Amino acid sequence: MEDERLISPELENIGEERLENSLRPKTLEEYIGQDKIKENMKIYIEAAKKRGEALDHVLLYGPPGLGKTTLSNIISNEMNANIKITSGPAIEKPGDLAALLTNLSEFDVLFIDEIHRLSKSVEEILYPALEDYTLDIIIGKGPSARSIRLDLPKFTLIGATTKAGALTTPLRDRFGIVHRLELYSVQDLTKIVKRSSNILNVKIEEPAAVEIARRSRGTPRIANRILKRVRDYAAVLGNGEIDLKVTKHALNKLEIDELGLDEIDRKILETMIVQYKGKPVGIEALAATIGEEVDTIEDVYEPYLIQIGFIARTLRGRTVLPPAYTHMGYSYLE
Ligand code: ADE
Repeated sequence: MEDERLISPELENIGEERLENSLRPKTLEEYIGQDKIKENMKIYIEAAKKRGEALDHVLLYGPPGLGKTTLSNIISNEMNANIKITSGPAIEKPGDLAALLTNLSEFDVLFIDEIHRLSKSVEEILYPALEDYTLDIIIGKGPSARSIRLDLPKFTLIGATTKAGALTTPLRDRFGIVHRLELYSVQDLTKIVKRSSNILNVKIEEPAAVEIARRSRGTPRIANRILKRVRDYAAVLGNGEIDLKVTKHALNKLEIDELGLDEIDRKILETMIVQYKGKPVGIEALAATIGEEVDTIEDVYEPYLIQIGFIARTLRGRTVLPPAYTHMGYSYLE
């Protein structure tokens, strides 16, 4: 039996999770956006299948909520293989990884989320597994200890991370396929919102779908979350159908502004403008001032604020840019 602890560590919020899963596309054909990745993956998958080989190991990186897990499920699906889902912090000891690897079947996908958080000792076990599909395990202790080599099935590792830079070079070098997921366009998010509404069985007007897309910070997970809340407002305040009026009402109640910024985004901008007077600020100081984790700011908030030109990373720290002043209702003084 496998150690349950190692599989699917995110058990909180089961209801939301199940709903999120139901909205996830199951095939590359159904997957909206990330066209470059889709095109490439289609070729690599077909070629691997033609050769009767496992797909090369894949590294997916980019901000959270863009579909790294979804894509991994699709890849295993398209390879007609199984997927085992785990995460870097869940694999505590080399033995944990050995248990996962020896339970795989030929062509299976092992998905490791937050792969940058693997410990050194676990990472070292992974290298020969990735390179030669072998596992070196040490049996016994002291002078009588000996090492045995196990052959593993030909599997595919899919690693996901929000921080590609935090990966060690030897680990990064062992991925044959490396892709960065980009924030989605409003057009693609609109398609996703309409597709999700269809699955949830709610009618949505085009302008309402566009509005949700516009305010989702380029992120399908956020778009689907907002859609579910708007659906609640539409059910209680209206006839269940989603129009622009109920969408705007719900978004105001959720305190998501015209650009999709939430309370924390605005706190970041306000702090940079007022407290730091628009001067460059280090990420640690900023995080301490607003009471958020450095990682959360870097991974969740910053990518979109940079994308819309509100903040910039400089050598001296983060700076807040003129469009952010206008949006926050301040005038920008040179
Ligand atoms: N739901 C969440 N992400 C999606 C995507 N990229 N395509 C289709 N539906 C989605």
